[in-house]
Amino acid sequence: MTEHPVPAPVVPPLVRPRRLRTTPALRRMVAEQQVQARQLVLPVFIREGLTEPKPVSSMPGVVQHTRDSLLAAVSEAAELGLGGVMLFGVPETKDATGSGALDPSGVLNLAITDVVAEVGDALTVMSDLCLDEFTDHGHCGVLTADGRVDNDQTLAAYADMARAQAHAGVDMVGPSGMMDGQVRVIRDALDAFEHTDVGILAYSAKYASAFFGPFREAVDSSLVGDRRTYQQDPANAREGVREALLDVAEGADMVMVKPALPYLDVVRRVREAVEVPVAAYNVSGEYAQLEAAAERGWIDREAAILETLTSIHRAGADVILTYWASEAARLLAEISAELGELSAEKDEVEMEWLGAAEALETSMIHSLAGLIDEGGINRTRPFREPHHTASMAAIVG
Ligand code: PBG
Repeated sequence: MTEHPVPAPVVPPLVRPRRLRTTPALRRMVAEQQVQARQLVLPVFIREGLTEPKPVSSMPGVVQHTRDSLLAAVSEAAELGLGGVMLFGVPETKDATGSGALDPSGVLNLAITDVVAEVGDALTVMSDLCLDEFTDHGHCGVLTADGRVDNDQTLAAYADMARAQAHAGVDMVGPSGMMDGQVRVIRDALDAFEHTDVGILAYSAKYASAFFGPFREAVDSSLVGDRRTYQQDPANAREGVREALLDVAEGADMVMVKPALPYLDVVRRVREAVEVPVAAYNVSGEYAQLEAAAERGWIDREAAILETLTSIHRAGADVILTYWASEAARLLAEISAELGELSAEKDEVEMEWLGAAEALETSMIHSLAGLIDEGGINRTRPFREPHHTASMAAIVG
């Protein structure tokens, strides 16, 4: 008679994947990938005419910068070892053609020069190349008389904007307007003015996404309506690959998929289709939803941030633009410090072993010396390692 029910017999597993998850060291050893600070790019907003940094309410922790706070943020980014920064300018006045974007003393162009002077070569300084922050209608291009976005007229403006940003000293421009042929026109304009070293990070597969919502506040967007005649339909992944291939053919140095999380399949497909580095933009709406849930205590904020970035990296992004870039770099540094402590503990254990081994060696040498004294062993032959011979010689005398 049994008091405890006998457990039902089970078939023991033939394979136990859990074995590789047993200890932190083992998990660390077999981790397939790990995003690093050098792969993160911090997007920053500089607003003309501010005296104090202005919080963006839909993106807790993100501000529109003054010139000073911008320089502080980028030098912190440099200290943390980030890959780069992406600059967005918010002008005080806008017009139909977005002329502030082309003006050498416009807010974005001045910020480029400032930031480059501040961080030098420590960061890749990138700038948004698009008219939407500068147009009073909020579209990424100039409009035809009947209100449509005029692709080829816009290209001419992009060429001027590229030139202005290159003159200001930018390392890489980020055309984000989704006009056909934009990469080629920009490459041409840069080369014509001997800016052959200025790179192009093309926003290749940029979707007409609801996840850009909070960004519109960050740049005081005036947009009414949507961007569906130029940004892509969220239904189309194959078309995203097509756009990326076109941009590479037009001379893009890197291509980008944006947003990131709802388009990880596109990130993966683009990664497999091109040979240039692929970036993904972890956009404002992705940031805002996690921050909002964390604020309510509904999600473990730091773990969710790292898991988010890991997922984008795992999908195939070589570079990630994220508003968490600086914080994530700090978290990653903490993690590697913790893992360092783990190996420090291991070192102690190893030292103990070494001590024990030395004691053993000494006692062996003593007994060998005894044997030699008794004439039972040839003194030099068993010792091939010079230090053994030397220590034996010291003992045997
Ligand atoms: C356009 C631009 C946008 C974003 C980056 N560049 C907005 C848009 O296309 O509507 C969105 C970034 C984000 O949501 O974080 N210049």
